[in-house]
Amino acid sequence: MNEKALLVVSFGTSHPETKEKTIEAIENDLAAAFPDRRLYRAWTSSMLRRKVKADTGEHIDSVAEALARMAGQGITDVLIQPTHLLAGEEHDKLCRELESGKAAFSSVTVGKPLLAAEEDIAVLAALLPGLCPSLGAGELMVWMGHGSGALRLPVYQILDGLLSQNGHPDHTVGTVEFDPGFDAVLERVRQRRPARVILAPLMVVAGDHAVNDMAGDDPDSWQSRLRAEGPAVTCVLRGLGEYEAIRALYVAHARAAKPL
Ligand code: CO
Repeated sequence: MNEKALLVVSFGTSHPETKEKTIEAIENDLAAAFPDRRLYRAWTSSMLRRKVKADTGEHIDSVAEALARMAGQGITDVLIQPTHLLAGEEHDKLCRELESGKAAFSSVTVGKPLLAAEEDIAVLAALLPGLCPSLGAGELMVWMGHGSGALRLPVYQILDGLLSQNGHPDHTVGTVEFDPGFDAVLERVRQRRPARVILAPLMVVAGDHAVNDMAGDDPDSWQSRLRAEGPAVTCVLRGLGEYEAIRALYVAHARAAKPL
């Protein structure tokens, strides 16, 4: 008999509130789209799996553990959808684990991360301005991504360029850990001289980076550094996973999943 499963793979988060509103919301929408499949969850961050175990006692599977659990429960056909934003390091790690674990199943198909190809970036560029309140004159929307050192496509630069090209030069994109970094955001602020900057995460969850690096009170946070530049700063602590339109993109990627 063909036993089917849906494995949703996320990076993870230690913030329970955003976990529910983002990772679990995506899992729920995917489960609803594939009612004939049993839902399983895995996180790629071992640090965050340990943190959640220590904080709440909840065990969350690694990818290898989830694959073993599914095989042990008689699953033969697995659809895997990552909630990763990009095909970066975490996604490469997932692909390697699937290569070694796939032999236990008769069928393994995998959906792409949110921004896997240029078409995906165009879709997000068209969507983002509708996800925040409409901007007045003198307002600048800054989307703070994580960044990655392992990208084939310069995703953030392409997204920033498309937002401007589409008539939204009052939206810009920067990343916490890689290029384009905070300096690129600062440059846009100095060009446009906004009276108000709105900061929001360009990350699936609004976890540590959003709470601390973006919206934190200490002088190093983006909020503090932008305020020091002059404009008023407002922070929106909503991960991308909180938006139904974004979750629908993950469902579409799962429907287009290809064999590994
Ligand atoms: Co980080």
